[in-house]
Amino acid sequence: MAKESTRSVHDAEPFDEESGSITTPIYQTTTFAFSKAEDARRAVLGETDRYTYTRWDNPTTARLEKKLASLEGAEGAAFFSSGMAAISTTILAFLKAGDRVVAISDLYGGTFELMSRILPRFGVKTTLVDTEDPSAMEEAVGEGTKLVYIETPTNPTLKLVDIRKAATVAHDAGALLLVDSTFASPINQRPIELGADMVLHSATKYLNGHADVTAGAAAGGSQRIDKVKHLRRDLGGTIDPHAAWLVLRGMKTMALRVRAQNESAMAIAEFLSRHPKVRAVHYPGLSGHPQHAIARKQMAGFGGMMSFELKGTMEDAKRFTERLKVGLLAASLGGVETLVSQPSLMTHTQMSADERRRTGIADSLIRLSVGIEDKEDLVADLKQALESL
Ligand SMILES: Cc1ncc(COP(=O)(O)O)c(C=O)c1O
Repeated sequence: MAKESTRSVHDAEPFDEESGSITTPIYQTTTFAFSKAEDARRAVLGETDRYTYTRWDNPTTARLEKKLASLEGAEGAAFFSSGMAAISTTILAFLKAGDRVVAISDLYGGTFELMSRILPRFGVKTTLVDTEDPSAMEEAVGEGTKLVYIETPTNPTLKLVDIRKAATVAHDAGALLLVDSTFASPINQRPIELGADMVLHSATKYLNGHADVTAGAAAGGSQRIDKVKHLRRDLGGTIDPHAAWLVLRGMKTMALRVRAQNESAMAIAEFLSRHPKVRAVHYPGLSGHPQHAIARKQMAGFGGMMSFELKGTMEDAKRFTERLKVGLLAASLGGVETLVSQPSLMTHTQMSADERRRTGIADSLIRLSVGIEDKEDLVADLKQALESL
């Protein structure tokens, strides 16, 4: 099989024999016409492969789905209008009242809300367990557990979950393992090859890679993807064809982008870990990361995401973010621009200082999403901002 960088460019996108176009057309249409009523009837019933309505399926989106499935080593994929649409629709596709979900406690905010407040309103029991303790997950799964849900690496403290172990725990309990692999991208981590049943992405991040599209994706076995797509039709979180085309275009450079980001992130993590004004650096590529052995086992690259704690206060961290000249102070991640955020001030304000401390989110913690700018310029930018404190 061709390597990821070749597949990112060519898979699912044969050139158009009629026009010669080497890029996929944007089928910017909401609906599809038929010459014969009988064909329309059969298509709506799902008896043929004809497209009927873009909320159900669309040829541009179908190409994108095929490309992601190829890169994740999955039978199929489904794209959505956001990462949260992908996560919520996929989770709901496999649950009913009375079922149980076991998830790690270090979840992305929207997913945390879904697990802790939304699903319980519909009679689904959810248990959140210590992210770094595999025995906690083993103890929590029990009768009625339908899903085990993990993110790895986690946001913003870059903790890891052993995907193979989590798959064993889930499967022994008769449950499915769902993995949010947004922080890694399929270039660095392929959960399905490690035993996961479904992989989820905020495609807003590395898949698209240019901070100009909000989108999400799920990939997995074809029957499960059919089930997810069926619910997507009814809940309506389908991606728009133009957004799908932009993600297709973004994915062609994903291998290049992610490998450059891996390399720069490693250099930056090493620089930060030697700097006297930095207390701690959380990056899975550093040999001192408590789960570095897991990273080596399940990641092909250590990613472009890290967080670090300044020796200082919330105010010092605030000043640091404001003094960067290349890096931008903004939420989100995975794009070509280097972005920084301060979780205690921006994304985790709903937690008390005490709760934040317990999950490892210090007041002076900075999250860094490394872009594709020159590695030396990025180090120099961080250096001048640190030295100005
Ligand atoms: C790990 C992770 N999962 C899911 C999401 C949600 O994605 P979206 O913002 O595309 O809905 C995010 C967004 O930041 C994320 O970081």
